[in-house]
Amino acid sequence: MKLQMAITAYLILQALAKDLYEDFGQCLMELIRNGLCASMDNPDKKWEPHRAKIEVSLIEIPALLRKGKCLVVLDHGKGLTTAGLKRYFEWLGTPLETLRERSRGSSNGSSQKGIGRLAALSLNGKCHDKDISVAAKNGFFVFSRTSSSGEIRFIEVVPEKIETDGGTEVDRFITPSSEEARFLNNIEGSFTAIVIPTPVFDSADEIIESIKWLLPREANKMFDLRVNGKKVAPPELQSAVNITWDGDKYRARLGAFKKVSETDEATGIWLCDEETGFRVASCVRMGSKFMPMPLWYPDIVGDIFVPGLLRHQGTARNKLSDAFTRKWDDEWRKLLLFLSTVVAPAAKNLLDNDVEETGASKALEDLVTLFHGCYGLPPEKEPGGGSGGTRIRTKSPTTPDDKDRPKEEPKPRHKTIKIRDEVYHLYTGRSLDPDLFAEVAPHNSQLVYVNVRGAYKSLPKNLSERKEHMLMLILIAIGLNENVNNPEEALKFASSRRADFLKK
Ligand SMILES: Nc1ncnc2c1ncn2[C@@H]1O[C@H](COP(=O)(O)OP(=O)(O)O)[C@@H](O)[C@H]1O
Ligand SMILES: [Mg+2]
Repeated sequence: MKLQMAITAYLILQALAKDLYEDFGQCLMELIRNGLCASMDNPDKKWEPHRAKIEVSLIEIPALLRKGKCLVVLDHGKGLTTAGLKRYFEWLGTPLETLRERSRGSSNGSSQKGIGRLAALSLNGKCHDKDISVAAKNGFFVFSRTSSSGEIRFIEVVPEKIETDGGTEVDRFITPSSEEARFLNNIEGSFTAIVIPTPVFDSADEIIESIKWLLPREANKMFDLRVNGKKVAPPELQSAVNITWDGDKYRARLGAFKKVSETDEATGIWLCDEETGFRVASCVRMGSKFMPMPLWYPDIVGDIFVPGLLRHQGTARNKLSDAFTRKWDDEWRKLLLFLSTVVAPAAKNLLDNDVEETGASKALEDLVTLFHGCYGLPPEKEPGGGSGGTRIRTKSPTTPDDKDRPKEEPKPRHKTIKIRDEVYHLYTGRSLDPDLFAEVAPHNSQLVYVNVRGAYKSLPKNLSERKEHMLMLILIAIGLNENVNNPEEALKFASSRRADFLKK
């Protein structure tokens, strides 16, 4: 007897739509990427983004949703072909056969993981209902045509039906003039439109904001993207550091973060795919374990373009896959060589030395000594050394920037400590809210921002009081980060670590 596993509505909704992605922008990008791939269908699988026109919009479609707007992602690509239909409705994940083909020759599709289409569920607000039986009844619609005119395939994708109906009905066709298809305005040519009712977005601006940093970073890699008719372009590249290496296959464009408006947040440096310009992995998130200092500092911002990187992106699309960074392979090694001998020295020049010694920074130095006394010195780590590879020395680069380098190396903006067996970096390069002394970085739980540049208002005058104050606030910040919904545990964490100091 042979049995075939079926997929449940819960798994589709939770694991493959909601938990997988960091935010709605990433989910929307999955649909946009699918539209892009369908639009540059060519035999040698070259990446030709200029061939794509993708229209994202919020439209009222009363035939599908009585009240409110639907989110529509429309591409003018080849449509859902017979093979595409099978991939869409029969397979979850990429079949082995396709993976084998890809490993024989690289292709632009190789970044695709065979589940991206389900991100559409995450964009339907009702799919987030706490009641799974409500969430599972909601989904999205696919409109698609492979011919240049005529009937349109109309498919409803609903998690509950996938689990209980034994399949999705894909052979329903409607005419372009039908109520459901009227929003397509008698569209010409082949196309696919994904229509999501009760979307999580309320406005075009919100949509643009959510994806602007996920668009190809170099303007010449951009495709024609409209949101409610408005053409969208990626934010400009940084220009303070502009390096090319190995022909021009590796490129770095960096600058120091400058806050222009209150809501601006530094996003750090990103590693991007050289061919498509997509951001692949955040250097802040990868942290000091993989990235040489100061590339993981959040206040240096910009993009580093690396050939073939998209293939090594993890499924959640914000990190490199473990297999790539663990394995000491030539590509990773070459990337580290570029980063540590060329980019990092140039990036150091972006760190100003104007951070004055403040009372707080002096007290912090003393406090760091206390931490070292209590928990020992942190191990010295060099990026990429994790799985026993050869170390890359960061000394003596010969780059054009060498002569411009100031004699005195800028001071690092972090101090490393251990708390029991965990390593943390106290990051001194950023001012926080005047009422906040310490805060763990959003995407790197080992990085703790400490407000020692003078902005903090409640620092006691006396040195020993200062140290005590800072110590507790750092411990509480870490405790809170590790016990997000449990402030009591967070305080216990802080007090128990404080007790460690008494034992020494
Ligand atoms: N907009 C689209 N136009 C044509 N085909 C599509 C579109 N979106 C998805 N598909 C088909 O569905 C398949 C599955 O999509 P997806 O779940 O995103 O996985 P992947 O993109 O990794 O293959 C694609 O490989 C493609 O064949
Ligand atoms: Mg996809």
